[in-house]
Amino acid sequence: MLEELNQILIKAESALQEVSDDDALESWRVTYMGRSSPLMSTFDRLGQIPKEDRPAIGRRANEVKRALEAALAEKSEALRQQALQRSLETTQLDVTLPGRPLPLGRLHPSTQILREITYIFAEMGFQVYRSREVETDEYNFQLLNFPPNHPAREMQDSFYIDTGSERGDNPVLLRTHTSPGQIHAMREYSTLNPDNPPSIRLILPGMCFRYEQVNVRYELQFTQVEGLAVGESITFSNLKGTLSDFARRLFGQQVRTRFRASHFPFTEPSAEMDVECFVCGGAGCPVCKRTGWLEILGCGMVHPIVLTNGGYDPTRFTGFAFGMGPERISMLRHRIEDIRYFWANDLRFLEQF
Ligand code: PHE
Repeated sequence: MLEELNQILIKAESALQEVSDDDALESWRVTYMGRSSPLMSTFDRLGQIPKEDRPAIGRRANEVKRALEAALAEKSEALRQQALQRSLETTQLDVTLPGRPLPLGRLHPSTQILREITYIFAEMGFQVYRSREVETDEYNFQLLNFPPNHPAREMQDSFYIDTGSERGDNPVLLRTHTSPGQIHAMREYSTLNPDNPPSIRLILPGMCFRYEQVNVRYELQFTQVEGLAVGESITFSNLKGTLSDFARRLFGQQVRTRFRASHFPFTEPSAEMDVECFVCGGAGCPVCKRTGWLEILGCGMVHPIVLTNGGYDPTRFTGFAFGMGPERISMLRHRIEDIRYFWANDLRFLEQF
């Protein structure tokens, strides 16, 4: 029996040399170490051999078993290493390559300038009031003193959501300016206390839409920042002071401003504010078209009809309003020559800010 065990060991070890994959290893294990293998049946037959031979045979059988277990473990590890080596050679994984850096996002240039403007007005006590982008003709025009067919509508051709046939002369449209927010805000505040409405100081930032011939100066969509202050004894001096101070905070303390008479149906009197060209310092250059001045916003005293439409008694309350285009301001500041870049989603442009 001892000789038999030695033969089992020799045969198993030489068979193991031939094994070259996991399947073959498993069938080797079944053949040489499985339940019905010659080695295992030796253990079963121990009871049948003479008592005095049992310890030696038993010991040897256990030695052979441990030797086979060790050989199996060693082979299994060798096969694992081989498989790893093969996959390293065929798939060419270079673990020393540095990882790909994740690009960091940033704020859109329109958002940047919007925030800058918001911070300045926040310091002056203006709150942000958000208002809807889809409006009715009534809010976008009529309540702002643009009656149907008023020539000032020419400047603000809109995108209509419906034809207005079943809504009479009140079709739904995309707002062409942030000014309808003036009505929403005044109505909201005045209904809080109709007999004694609170004074308000707001800015209304947001997206506007116009049916424009798109070119370097006009886009179908753009942001505006509207401003509105309503209270007792608000004067044109307050308007001038607030907006001149705003210009100094945005463009630098030395910048000069001027107000030119203008017209908007919802303000009276109306004006446009220019800042001295910060590119040439007022001497005249291509950016200011040789005038020395850059137009940055429209403004005026809130029209009595608009105050009334908002629920504020014009015999008691006055107010001023203004509206500016942040992209325009950003274009002047960074000398961006084409407004279409803002919504073209070209990273070569956006990553410069
Ligand atoms: N809503 C005007 C425009 O878009 C700008 C403006 C706002 C003018 C408020 C005066 C007061 O052209």
